Amino acid sequence: MIICLCRAVSDREIRSLVDSGARSMAEVREACGIGECCGKCARQARELIVERVGTMVANELSRAAA
Ligand code: FES
Repeated sequence: MIICLCRAVSDREIRSLVDSGARSMAEVREACGIGECCGKCARQARELIVERVGTMVANELSRAAA
């Protein structure tokens, strides 16, 4: 699904950037330009970043507890 219409950035690309080490909207923006035009995508992009980072942390904790 396209999240940023201005830069044609998808949810998949945002998740991939987080998987590659991006941990903030600023880092994702720097990598793909999301939110630099009209900014309407910013809230949804931030939610995706937080969700992905949260999943990664939960997975780390599960592995550490195992
Ligand atoms: S929709 Fe992302 S900057 Fe416009």
